[in-house]
Amino acid sequence: MRSFAALFVVLLTTSSSASSRTGTYLKGSPDADRARAAFLKLRTASGPTTVPATNLAYVQYTTSVGIGNPPTYYNLVVDTGSSNTFCGTGTPYVRTSTSIPTGEAVNVTYGTGYFSGLEYLDQVTLAANLVITNQSIGDALSYADFQGVDGIVGVGPVDLTLGTLSPDTNAAIPTVMNNLVSQGLIENQVLGVYFAPATSYSDTSSLHRLQYESELTYVPVTMTYPAAYYWGINVTSSTYGTYTVIPTSTAGIVDTGPRVLLADDFFAVYLKAIPGAKLDSNTGLIEIPPSSISSMQPLDFTIADQVFSMDVAAQLIPTDQNTAWGGVSGKQYGVVANLGSNSGEGLDFIIGQKFMERYYAVFDTDANRVGFAQT
Ligand SMILES: *[C@@H]1O[C@H](CO)[C@@H](O)[C@H](O)[C@H]1NC(C)=O
Ligand SMILES: *[C@@H]1O[C@H](CO)[C@@H](O)[C@H](O)[C@H]1NC(C)=O
Ligand SMILES: *[C@@H]1O[C@H](CO)[C@@H](O)[C@H](O)[C@H]1NC(C)=O
Repeated sequence: MRSFAALFVVLLTTSSSASSRTGTYLKGSPDADRARAAFLKLRTASGPTTVPATNLAYVQYTTSVGIGNPPTYYNLVVDTGSSNTFCGTGTPYVRTSTSIPTGEAVNVTYGTGYFSGLEYLDQVTLAANLVITNQSIGDALSYADFQGVDGIVGVGPVDLTLGTLSPDTNAAIPTVMNNLVSQGLIENQVLGVYFAPATSYSDTSSLHRLQYESELTYVPVTMTYPAAYYWGINVTSSTYGTYTVIPTSTAGIVDTGPRVLLADDFFAVYLKAIPGAKLDSNTGLIEIPPSSISSMQPLDFTIADQVFSMDVAAQLIPTDQNTAWGGVSGKQYGVVANLGSNSGEGLDFIIGQKFMERYYAVFDTDANRVGFAQT
């Protein structure tokens, strides 16, 4: 019944003074560098609707969201790893006649950064035909680590909102996805995410049409916590050339952060497999000697019996993006990095943006599963 007939992502790359931003919004992530990401394909009665996203300095995708009536537009980071939606970290929240204070305070702590403020109900415009009434949103009054963006639109599981309100600490906050369905604006809580790779700062507007109806490989959301709080899945193995990086079925998450993170013991195998590669402590990125690049191998993940491969290019940061990732020119960095803890903790990898630039991802709340297709 579900259709994924088309997805359009308008990709605009912009230069940003916040280019060194590596803040994570991923609650519970032990590492930084989880700037967020892009999408949204939502199936409406009249067919799939896409909300365009903008690539900001290569490492995060934002979408323009209108709040209020008349709406003020905010650049919100699209985050599959959190579920509160809020504004106010850049452009201040402009209250209009549709803004209803809930009497609740809100406070969310992310892997890096936090915001706290007041919760409102308000009208939220995602696209001309996607106008949500009475969406609960936060007005960030104090915050850290949101340079260059106005907040987040959280498209993770609703349970991630538990405990973020006070005094009503036991209340979940219906997410944008929940309200799109309950208000009849979309039929299914199915979100498609496609990251169009940003190739240069001068890349202004590439339009992509994708057709995947029958090509999706689905994997259930994992039962292993803490990955199960998020869009968590099990990969059954991962290899790099002849090296076994992930030897056994392991839970981790699919996330809109930029990098691909592996538990430290998994990452150690990958690092060892690339002669001369080392972890650069300044950036947290892997630094790869130019002489090793020609012998690099694909990094393969087996998910639901299918192999999803990150080719060599997908593992490398284009050198003209070095400063945007916090690095220095003249070096070759990679996107695969370490999680900061060993495996066995129930969240042993994060498959991020650089993977999803190769694979279209579908986050299916209704069937509690994640799907992937070749792009
Ligand atoms: C927000 O939560 C954090 C962590 O739970 C806490 O340290 C901080 O005091 C809270 N801030 C506000 C304004 O409630
Ligand atoms: C939004 O919620 C408020 C307060 O609960 C209610 O008074 C109002 O009628 C609601 N508006 C719509 C359009 O549902
Ligand atoms: C998923 O991985 C965890 C380890 O992270 C393991 O305990 C669990 O059995 C795996 N689940 C499946 C279905 O393979």
